[in-house]
Amino acid sequence: MTSPKIINSDISQWLQNSVKLSTSPQTSFLPAASPSHFSGSPPQSYFPLSSRRSSMKLPPPKVLKPFATEDIKILLLENVNQTAVDILNQQGYQVEFHKTSLNEDELIEKIRDVHAIGIRSKTKLTSKVLAEARNLVVIGCFCIGVNQVDIEYAAKHGIAVFNSPFSNSRSVAELVIGEIIALARQFTDRSNEMHNGVWNKVSAGCWEIRGKTLGIVGYGHIGAQLSVLAESMGMSVIYYDVIPIMSLGMAKQVATLDDLLTEADFITLHIPALPETENLIGAPQFAAMKHGSYLINASRGTVVDIPALINAMHSGKIAGAALDVYPNEPAKNGPTFHSALNIWAEQLRSLKNIILTPHIGGSTEEAQSAIGIEVGQALVRYINEGTTIGAVNFPEVSLRSLTLEEENHVRVLYVHSNVPGVLRTVNEIFAEHNIDKQYSDSRGDIAYLMADISQVDAADIRDLYEKLERTPFRIMTRLLY
Ligand SMILES: NC(=O)c1ccc[n+]([C@@H]2O[C@H](COP(=O)([O-])OP(=O)(O)OC[C@H]3O[C@@H](n4cnc5c(N)ncnc54)[C@H](O)[C@@H]3O)[C@@H](O)[C@H]2O)c1
Repeated sequence: MTSPKIINSDISQWLQNSVKLSTSPQTSFLPAASPSHFSGSPPQSYFPLSSRRSSMKLPPPKVLKPFATEDIKILLLENVNQTAVDILNQQGYQVEFHKTSLNEDELIEKIRDVHAIGIRSKTKLTSKVLAEARNLVVIGCFCIGVNQVDIEYAAKHGIAVFNSPFSNSRSVAELVIGEIIALARQFTDRSNEMHNGVWNKVSAGCWEIRGKTLGIVGYGHIGAQLSVLAESMGMSVIYYDVIPIMSLGMAKQVATLDDLLTEADFITLHIPALPETENLIGAPQFAAMKHGSYLINASRGTVVDIPALINAMHSGKIAGAALDVYPNEPAKNGPTFHSALNIWAEQLRSLKNIILTPHIGGSTEEAQSAIGIEVGQALVRYINEGTTIGAVNFPEVSLRSLTLEEENHVRVLYVHSNVPGVLRTVNEIFAEHNIDKQYSDSRGDIAYLMADISQVDAADIRDLYEKLERTPFRIMTRLLY
């Protein structure tokens, strides 16, 4: 194995002096012992099968670095999880951590010099703020949604955005399991009665869940987790999804939503908010459901017609319901869940055997920690290797890692406008060298090309960089070596 070394210190100095950090690599490698468990290869699933089979025999991957790591500046706001702070610190980056969000002026001041920023939902990264970010290459949203970021503006300026949409699937599935039992036993009502000093020992209308049928609408990340948990407690599971999905365990996919509604004792919704899912469960669907069945919605507030649910519960058709999400949700904690927000709020609150929770399905310590790891790793992979798997505003591109035996290679990362003629121009620039591997993809107006070029020396790297920077379609060029 060849040990890592500085292959070219002159070019490093030149690049650093001549261009901004956001585009200039510096030639140094981490020591071979340094790579942490996540900083090497792109995800296995992205490998062609043949290279996956042979990957055991390959020499260790070379850790590419865009700059001396201590030059990379990361701004973390809103108390992102410690797991992320640790991952970024381990890389040797300069990490500035704040417990809160910043006001716009402070944010603009801080964002000017950083290469990466990590936020949660309160920090608004508008085009006005992003326009001030001279060196920014990547944004990490340590949360599910990315509405707080102008992701289109970011893409057009070569800034990749990552989030963590599925780190809390297990937390949601466990909440739903708890709710199924709570509804079947009416125990939130019994508990409320006891809090008011009332002893009300009843068994009428209270059930075990063993042997009952759970109908899952949407068999994605959460639906599938739930399926396994419910079966392990003796429930039969059926599910409806718009795409055919292989079942886990003994669960059975049904052909139509109506099939599910007429067969299930408990119905739980795990679908996205889309125009076609708005009020997916309304009066006709409640009419189709079994008398005395239960409804759970921990997906999105728009998918249930709440006035129709209120009617169905008044009539006894629905014996209980659990809602974690609502068409309108308050922006902050406090006594705000009333009719000014949703006109039916008081009616909903007065119903028996209904569990109302404030969108906490994914709110657990484990989910926060998983989000920290997923987004932290995505930032490192993008900064160090250029991988965009999981990006929300970039085409998803990855290349298998270079190995320590591959000397005199450069990895080209080239974000460009998705217009005709780019590949011809770029490949003419590459033509004098050997293109070991190359992959490019587009997403709307933005395209992203990764290529590993071999047999390059310092002058070649400088030449490649200058020529790519001069192309008319270039948005951002980075070279890693
Ligand atoms: N309550 C919370 O705190 C919380 C936390 C995480 C996710 N969520 C929400 O839960 C929902 C599901 O999340 P996920 O991670 O399982 O999503 P996912 O994308 O993994 O799965 C969604 C599934 O729904 C299916 N689907 C889409 N339209 C459908 C339709 N009309 N009928 C039936 N199936 C349909 C899709 O094919 C997919 O299999 C999302 O709306 C998400 O925003 C809520």
